[in-house]
Amino acid sequence: MSDKSLYQRLGGYDGIKGFCDDLLPRVQADPLLGRFWQNRGDDGIAREKQLLVDYLCANAGGPVYYTGRDMLLSHKGMKISEADWSNFLGHAGATMAALKVPQQECDDVVAFVLSLKNDIVEA
Ligand code: HEM
Repeated sequence: MSDKSLYQRLGGYDGIKGFCDDLLPRVQADPLLGRFWQNRGDDGIAREKQLLVDYLCANAGGPVYYTGRDMLLSHKGMKISEADWSNFLGHAGATMAALKVPQQECDDVVAFVLSLKNDIVEA
């Protein structure tokens, strides 16, 4: 186990931004998940992406202050289902494979994302 933060091990801000650059188009093109981004403006989507980058950086131990809402509040009422969640995880795995993220870092990212499940999945 390295004593570097997960933020450092993922390649810092640029590494995490690259992860989001790869992941979001996959999620938005997914036949099941695409509905969450339908009819939303480009700038709203760009803002949400920046918040995701900031959220991941801050939670991975980076020098970033997250100004967005918490996961429960920001996803409440969207009716994100088990099937949605499972597709999301599949895309996160595909992104990490495409970016050749090492196994330990993949495991750490998945563990962090799974820790959010109860706040995000509600239907
Ligand atoms: C199936 C899974 C997910 C779906 C469908 C989903 C969908 C969304 C949507 C549509 C928004 C925009 C909300 C708005 O503009 O009001 C949002 C916001 C956000 N999501 Fe997710 N999300 C999922 C999982 C996650 C996960 C796992 C994370 C963290 C790793 C995350 C982090 C965020 C953040 C940081 C925001 C911005 C919060 C804010 O606006 O203050 N989401 N999500």
